[in-house]
Amino acid sequence: MKLIPWAKPTLSSTDKKFLIKSFNSNWISGGHYVNKLENSFAKFLKSKKTLTVNNGTSAIHVIYLALNLKRGDEIILPAYGYMAASNLALQMGIKPVFVDVDYETFCINVNKIRKKITKKTKLIVAINTYGNVCDFKELKRIRKETGIFILEDAAESLGSTLDNRQSGTFGDFGTFSFQATKNITTGEGGIVVTNNKEIYKKMSLYRNHGIYKERYLHLLPGNNFRLTNLQASIGFSQLKRIELIKKRRKEIFFLYKELFKKNRNIKLQKFEQNINPMVWTLAINLDYRKNLKRKKLIGLMMRRKIETRNGFYSPNRLSIYKKFKSNDLEISDKISENIICLPLYNALSNKNVKYIAKNFLELVD
Ligand SMILES: Cc1ncc(COP(=O)(O)O)c(C=O)c1O
Repeated sequence: MKLIPWAKPTLSSTDKKFLIKSFNSNWISGGHYVNKLENSFAKFLKSKKTLTVNNGTSAIHVIYLALNLKRGDEIILPAYGYMAASNLALQMGIKPVFVDVDYETFCINVNKIRKKITKKTKLIVAINTYGNVCDFKELKRIRKETGIFILEDAAESLGSTLDNRQSGTFGDFGTFSFQATKNITTGEGGIVVTNNKEIYKKMSLYRNHGIYKERYLHLLPGNNFRLTNLQASIGFSQLKRIELIKKRRKEIFFLYKELFKKNRNIKLQKFEQNINPMVWTLAINLDYRKNLKRKKLIGLMMRRKIETRNGFYSPNRLSIYKKFKSNDLEISDKISENIICLPLYNALSNKNVKYIAKNFLELVD
């Protein structure tokens, strides 16, 4: 039996046709697919401005730069989630202030944000972990009360909706990643969305060496964060069939749910009623299995040809964050040690989903 990988990109023959078109056009750096992808993304999200970049981390970086975040500033982040936004803060001398997450949704606990806000707080980052969507009703209230910008890191939640509105559109800025494991992919890539025209202009400059129209005229000390036309052509093709991609991911998610239904101990991530998720990975909290070590379980699953992944490390468990250790992040620390992620991607057959669930149940029961 072949190994069932944890993730696999969904690449079609149509994606290849678009890629060849961009290749044959000779426009392999910039090119018209970049604009096409930005326009179709704006339409899909119903967002005013979109800016492609070379990855999901650059999407966050360009926002920090355009907001002029600097040494001494503070940003609020969840203590469980992919660490791109907080790593960037460390790089730039910005203080990451961590807030615990909710035990069931794995998203930032909005009720714990206010007491972490200081005069130095410049930004709140909400991460839509594993395809969930954070509680933006409350986040918007905080935004209104404090005026602090909100960045919605939607790298893992492309296609998920909250009250029928696309994720990535709830904050002042939304960011996405098109890395190979993501819901749609360009190999590496990302995009920023916003309705803030002024910051959008600044972000465009930072993406392109600080140059606007006149060649070599650097208006600010920018970077090269550009996505290539080759990558954009694949993304453009994939976005066209996002509803189909979502449909299959949902089928797999519901099949897993059904298969795990009988075992009351298996705790899947919770999605609130008003969320229609495009689940990125099937995250299970192993909290109840005190005597079963996750590392051992991952090894045992691998012996049965199933690749799984551990959850993210919380900042308290990472030495690079030792200066920011905090004793009020218990839930993040706990789930960080107990989450295991099972494969979930379009090419995964129902037969394999059943095989994964059966083996998982055998090992944890
Ligand atoms: C929530 C989140 N934010 C940011 C990133 C960074 O994106 P990239 O790998 O495209 O730089 C990722 C994942 O890779 C992520 O999962």
